[in-house]
Amino acid sequence: MSSKRPHLLRLAVLASGRGSNLQAIIDAIEAKQVDATVVAVISNKKDAVALERARKHSLKDIFVDPKPFAGQPDGREAYDRAILDMLQQHDVELVLLAGYMKIVTTVLVNAYAGRMMNIHPSLLPSFPGLDAQKKAIEWGCKLGGCTVHFVTEGVDEGPIIIQAAVPIFDGDTPENLSARILEQEHKIYPRAVQLYAEGRLRVEGRRVRVTGATTESIAAIISP
Ligand code: GAR
Repeated sequence: MSSKRPHLLRLAVLASGRGSNLQAIIDAIEAKQVDATVVAVISNKKDAVALERARKHSLKDIFVDPKPFAGQPDGREAYDRAILDMLQQHDVELVLLAGYMKIVTTVLVNAYAGRMMNIHPSLLPSFPGLDAQKKAIEWGCKLGGCTVHFVTEGVDEGPIIIQAAVPIFDGDTPENLSARILEQEHKIYPRAVQLYAEGRLRVEGRRVRVTGATTESIAAIISP
């Protein structure tokens, strides 16, 4: 190994479903666009396609069954303590929520403050929570998009790292808008991780300063 090889940021990806964002991260790492390594893919769903993707790339796949925690008084926190244990065992430096359909508690949020990201399919702070694309259409928005943000206690509320906007056309359905947004998700999530890996993100209150960003060349995105 060359001594010039950058430190590979140790990532864990938490995912509940199809894992296309996980795949985008894996692909970007394999293409050497992101100086990171996925040390664990963790899911609350045994059959998550994300876990299959992990196995296909010989990555550690971990299913943490939520059932045994469900009856406990602090079940959600206990579940997150089990996840935290996994993260610590694998020396995880940055946690990525990628279609992780479980609200994380303060157990994880505090342990990974400033070191946990989420991707959401809207231009936050519009349309947090579920069905963001459907809500954007119903609202009559002309632009939609996606956001990568740091995770804080409030759902989809943390400081925004990067966003991509896409047009919303008359006659769009939640499905085709989701597909249009997803294409951009696959670009911005790896990019956010690389910015972090390069130490270019600095959180100042609600604002994330990105050193060396060249957004000045973007005049406007107008739709229609
Ligand atoms: C993505 O569109 C992601 O933005 C969304 O779930 C999808 C997961 O797709 N996340 C949320 O809605 C979280 N609030 P993927 O499993 O193919 O990456």
